[in-house]
Amino acid sequence: MATASQDTILAKLRTFAMFEGIAEEDLGILAGLLTYREFPKGSFIVTQNDRGSAMYFLLAGRVKISVASPEGKELALSYLEAPAHFGEMSVVDSEPRSADVIAITDIETLMLESSDLAEAIQMRPQIALTLISSLSRRVRSLIDRLQGMAFHDATHRVMRVVLNVATASYEARGVPVIEGLTHYEIATLAGTSRETASRVISNLCRDGVVATKGRRIVVDLFQLRDAIERA
Ligand code: CMP
Repeated sequence: MATASQDTILAKLRTFAMFEGIAEEDLGILAGLLTYREFPKGSFIVTQNDRGSAMYFLLAGRVKISVASPEGKELALSYLEAPAHFGEMSVVDSEPRSADVIAITDIETLMLESSDLAEAIQMRPQIALTLISSLSRRVRSLIDRLQGMAFHDATHRVMRVVLNVATASYEARGVPVIEGLTHYEIATLAGTSRETASRVISNLCRDGVVATKGRRIVVDLFQLRDAIERA
């Protein structure tokens, strides 16, 4: 393990729900299966269609999960913030990588080789349950998105993205805030243009549904749910 101390890594691993309550000794053994790696902002950690032989635990920073068309158009699938994991799909089904994973800040990761996943799960079955539950959350979010594309207009989709990101922040940190996502990034998640995303957000601001403070968007979740129902 290169630059981070073993103690720092163990402390960061404890912030993952799947390692909650784990005995000190077991966490130490698990950490022995993991390789610490840092990547600078802009790095492709995983590239779509490549063969994958490892999954990653994101200890610090943020990544974007996206796919690109042959013409270079981008579709953002999700943004993940530490603590989170990615790259588990290829490890589990042995298919090529389903998407690009790009560091949008400097990041710190722990890499788990696919050959060590079974051992890690044997030691800590909670890992398997967490992988399944996060896959299930992703399927739900893709269904939600597909529904949005099929049944709703761009305004509605932008409001749903704002609601979903702010709700996730409320559940994780107790504050319904969008932080560090640009209007362009919100637009790519909603499948629309930056101009449309900015227009919808400024209308929500005018109506007192959200308040912007620098690059933070503070969301009134109740009012936004109402506005979505009325839209
Ligand atoms: P893998 O296919 O190995 O490599 C790309 C990773 O991106 C994938 O594993 C998942 O970890 C992650 N990923 C793919 N699709 C989504 C999605 N819709 N939402 C969040 N993460 C995803």
